[in-house]
Amino acid sequence: MENKNDLLFSKDFYWGSATSAYQVEGMNTNSDWWAWEQEEIKGAHSKVRDLSGNSCDHYSRFREDFDWAKDLGQNAHRLSIEWARIQPSENEWSSEAVEHYKEVIAALRERNIEPFVTALHFTLPQWVADYGGWLNPKIVSSYAKYVEFLIENFGDKVTYWFTLNEPLIAAEMSFLKGAWAPAKNKSVPDFFHALRNMIKAHKTGYGVMKQAAQKKGYSIKVGAAHNLIAFTPYNTKSVFDVFLAAALQKIFIKAYLGFFSVKTDDFIAVNFYFTSRVHLTLLNISAAFVGIKDEGEVLTDVGWTMRPEGLYRVLINLINFKKEIFITENGVADVQDRHRAQFIVEHLKAVNQAIVQGADVRGYFYWSLTDNFEWAYGFAPRFGLLAVDYSTLSRTARHSALVYKRICSSNAIAADLV
Ligand code: BGC
Repeated sequence: MENKNDLLFSKDFYWGSATSAYQVEGMNTNSDWWAWEQEEIKGAHSKVRDLSGNSCDHYSRFREDFDWAKDLGQNAHRLSIEWARIQPSENEWSSEAVEHYKEVIAALRERNIEPFVTALHFTLPQWVADYGGWLNPKIVSSYAKYVEFLIENFGDKVTYWFTLNEPLIAAEMSFLKGAWAPAKNKSVPDFFHALRNMIKAHKTGYGVMKQAAQKKGYSIKVGAAHNLIAFTPYNTKSVFDVFLAAALQKIFIKAYLGFFSVKTDDFIAVNFYFTSRVHLTLLNISAAFVGIKDEGEVLTDVGWTMRPEGLYRVLINLINFKKEIFITENGVADVQDRHRAQFIVEHLKAVNQAIVQGADVRGYFYWSLTDNFEWAYGFAPRFGLLAVDYSTLSRTARHSALVYKRICSSNAIAADLV
């Protein structure tokens, strides 16, 4: 029964969850992370805690996972295609991999789940890494051929495409922090080099994908999934903090999305995890940019804050772009499932509030459908709506998955959850 205090979403709202190929499929032996992990783990100061190995074996269990998604009331799913599977070497296109992903997409469609597909979610084929990966401008043309191939082969079945996942984070983690494959060292010039090639890959990719679709008569929408950081005031009563947060938010969104020429994209996709509560004080300069944690603030299992007001802030700042918006990731590492239900509810309340104020948000994807390989952290952080027992690979729905199911199935946050 509807209640006048329910927070409603539009009837065609996309409710889903997200995954990425390397994190769930298992045995992506041709990707750059694979060899990097094997090397890293041998070292005394290994940057990876686990080998990705068989991961959740989603490669063979995708139907079971999509049954779960369906059962959990979801009508959309974000996944990625592993470039290294599709193109194992420069002159080789794998028909087996094409068949596989066609089956994956068909399995979603059979369940009335709309596929949202990322062409590249962090990992590169080893042959691309061997010539320098993001540090070699050649990657732009290799990538363009790959995405053209994707549209030719899957463009009739998939409307929503993402060129890249979180380019800023990829460049930061690999090159600025030297913490992810393929990088070994921290290097500011490499960071900018990589980022520049990512920007070129996105822009070229966008054009190539749209053109390939047009040639075939397919109708597709293309954008990139960006990790957009929020800036909010630490002291909401301080005009300095309020002004600083508002200014940083505007500058960050305008400059960053400007580099990626988001104005020409078909939509804006936001992965949302981080909010800096910024504070202007001479005693702590970094507080003005990085922000500060509150004393006693409850954190996720990986030490991240949970600040839904940041999502509202980001969405409000996207209104002027006059684009469809998707929240393509938002999730929490929470093995005990203590915070996840409330986390989802609070973030969706923020989304609802932003929609009411004019943000054209069309969908929300919780990260992640299942627990998975959380990059350098390994398997310990548990982001999933479904808990995975890695010894048997069985999946179990967490309590929060059922709360999210209520929201997805009713297209509303019921008054008793608000
Ligand atoms: C990435 C995911 C990752 C998630 C949680 C996002 O930035 O796209 O691959 O698992 O964050 O860390």
